[in-house]
Amino acid sequence: MSDVHKKIDTIKEELDGALEKASSVKQLDAHRTYFLGKKGTISSLVKELKNLSLEEKKTVGPLLQALKKESEERFDQAKKDVIAKFAQAAVLKKQNFDITAYTPNALAGHLHPYSQFLEEVEDIFLSMGYEILDGPELETDFYNFTALNIPEDHPARDMYDTLWTDKPNSLLRTHTSPVQIHAMQTKKPPIAAIVPGRTYRHEAVDASHDFAFMQCEGFLIDKNVTLSHLFATAQEALKALFDKKDLDIRIRPGFFPFVEPGIEIDMRCVFCKNGCAVCKKSTWIEVFPGGLIHPNVIKAGGLDPNEYSGFAFGFGFSRLAMLKYAIDDIRLFYGGKIKFLEQF
Ligand code: PHE
Repeated sequence: MSDVHKKIDTIKEELDGALEKASSVKQLDAHRTYFLGKKGTISSLVKELKNLSLEEKKTVGPLLQALKKESEERFDQAKKDVIAKFAQAAVLKKQNFDITAYTPNALAGHLHPYSQFLEEVEDIFLSMGYEILDGPELETDFYNFTALNIPEDHPARDMYDTLWTDKPNSLLRTHTSPVQIHAMQTKKPPIAAIVPGRTYRHEAVDASHDFAFMQCEGFLIDKNVTLSHLFATAQEALKALFDKKDLDIRIRPGFFPFVEPGIEIDMRCVFCKNGCAVCKKSTWIEVFPGGLIHPNVIKAGGLDPNEYSGFAFGFGFSRLAMLKYAIDDIRLFYGGKIKFLEQF
């Protein structure tokens, strides 16, 4: 008899341990089978009853029945508790859902390469004492052409595929040069300014052209301004922009009605030493045109060309940004392709 009592005590201990540790329905079911299944420890003990004497049966029988009943009840309750606990955890999880929580590998935003490039250009010229000016994108014939020494019927107007508006004499500016006139009309020399801004031409869009594009005008108007001021300024700006200690430039003649003399500035290829696809095997890259501001333009701006002179240059902002970042398709800048933008 003491043997059976011992077995009952052991089972009770095991049962306490099992119920305490079980944390899922699956574990509880496995334990239930271990204790109460057909071949379970409690069931086996019940089967052993028949080997006992009548006296023993009388005392052990009710004990075993009680153990069986108690075990079943405890397993039922434990199962309910576990299910309730899971349900509560699910509710809490939903309640505590934090949409601002840090997500590993999430995309972080940054400035568009155009904005980064613009900031760099602005910083370079600000450090040289230039100011940054703005001007209207909707211009008049006077500012875009006539004041820039391109009177009506001048063949140079053909250089610009102009987008005219329905309003007479009104157009989308084809370049940033009109801001030279606005500046002379509103400021007193010396004037040193750059004008980054949007310009428009009636062009078919391809890998190197867009109908709306960014230009950056630069000009200095003062007494005794010469071409060497322009050369030095262009060279210093290019060195800073392309991060080179030495960067040769070369000058070729160029034509624009609003400069005299007019020049084209080239720089040594920043990608190779002996010729590559970007410099078309010449080791020189055409960067931008410029020149000394034509006396007629100074006059149109309301200043005396005998007293004042100046230089001006104008670069295709996209073209220079493409060179800086070695990009071969202008359309990528406005395309919004994440794979492209992520690289900056
Ligand atoms: N405005 C000219 C253009 O777009 C560029 C330029 C600016 C040339 C200043 C000379 C001096 O085409």
